[in-house]
Amino acid sequence: MKTQVAIIGAGPAGMLLCEILSQHGIDCVVLEKHSRAHVLERIRAGVLEQSTVELLRQYGLGQRMDQEGHVHDGMKIVWAGRESFFIDVKKHLGKQFMAYGQTNIQEDLFLAAEQRGAKVLTQVENLQLMNLTSTHPHVTFTHNGDASRLDCDFIAGCDGFHGVSRQSIPPHLREEFEKEYPFGWLGILSQTPPLRDITYANHPRGFALASMRSPTLSRYYIQVPTGTLCEEWSDDRFWSEIKSRFPKEMADEMVTGKSIEKSIAPLRSYVCETMRHGQLFLAGDAAHIVPPTGAKGLNLAVSDVFYLSRALTAFYRQGMTQLLDEYSETALRRVWSSVRISWYLTNLLHRFPGGSDFDQRAQEHELDYLKSSHHAQAALAEQYAGLAFESSSAPIT
Ligand code: APR
Ligand code: PHB
Repeated sequence: MKTQVAIIGAGPAGMLLCEILSQHGIDCVVLEKHSRAHVLERIRAGVLEQSTVELLRQYGLGQRMDQEGHVHDGMKIVWAGRESFFIDVKKHLGKQFMAYGQTNIQEDLFLAAEQRGAKVLTQVENLQLMNLTSTHPHVTFTHNGDASRLDCDFIAGCDGFHGVSRQSIPPHLREEFEKEYPFGWLGILSQTPPLRDITYANHPRGFALASMRSPTLSRYYIQVPTGTLCEEWSDDRFWSEIKSRFPKEMADEMVTGKSIEKSIAPLRSYVCETMRHGQLFLAGDAAHIVPPTGAKGLNLAVSDVFYLSRALTAFYRQGMTQLLDEYSETALRRVWSSVRISWYLTNLLHRFPGGSDFDQRAQEHELDYLKSSHHAQAALAEQYAGLAFESSSAPIT
């Protein structure tokens, strides 16, 4: 087989890249390790920055999102013993954001690929990236028991944190920045009406978050210690715990019900520098992970894909290599901005095991400052809403 761009991984990064490149007339093939059903089953975050929303619309992927998604002007922060407050993104920046599940985006992307007749091979095994520093790299893999080879000009490594792409960059050519947090988030999805606002709670018992997927589907999370097992948490125990972490009037408003999904995600920050090696370009979780506080993961996958698709399009249309050469640096600027805000919000809102009285007081003062300062709120709102994509450093025709 031969193509222009081999895309490894059919998560949101890989599938969005496939759609954008196809619309620009660039041939690509997506190679995915798991089945389509497995990819579509994963429940993940669901808050879209305005630039993500606009990009999806621009490529004709916004129809269902605009029907089913929920537009928000800001988010609420509550913490025990103090008055809650609202970070008004719309007031500060004139921007809004959208609650729309990653699972839905993944469905929309698969549907678009199907309608376009895109080449997406699933259940691909033993994938290896070869000759990355030559102008003719290729990918070897097994599909339906047959050994195959895909020749290409470029490889987009969109295969998530545990994929093979990042590992294919020799260790001495990449630098890794990592931080693990001593807790995870236990999340449930329940067919109950959500609270009105996305609400982050800081409580002595731990962090909690009330979010949503639709007017009849709620998503809730609580901070749990590393090593916690889902089986330890019945629905009743979860509801009683989350209610104890919210102010009484909000807890009373929570409509409880049977969970339809329950899972635990560890919290970690990770960045790989560089995001390019020869003809291999990393995008999304393959290159970086953020803790979910701030819901930046999916939005970063989308911004990487925006920069990468623009660089590839400029290469195929104009023979321009400048944007490809600048890709890693450009993408990483936005990555670090989201990594920093996710780290900031994680520190601000969680209770750290073993944290000292000093740490606790400093956190409380940070929260008080944020609550009372218009400037601090504007700064957080700007980051929460997401920065605009950088314009191209070279003219694209
Ligand atoms: N070969 C082929 N495909 C692979 C391989 C491999 N060796 N390893 C992993 N994959 C696939 C995974 O099965 C998955 O479908 O790559 C895909 C990567 O998708 P995601 O993990 O969803 O990553 P990405 O597309 O970058 O999306 C980032 O997902 O994890 C969330 O919070 C994160 O919202 C963010 C988004
Ligand atoms: C979610 O709805 O899943 C969600 C919302 C906000 C976050 C993280 C996750 O910060």
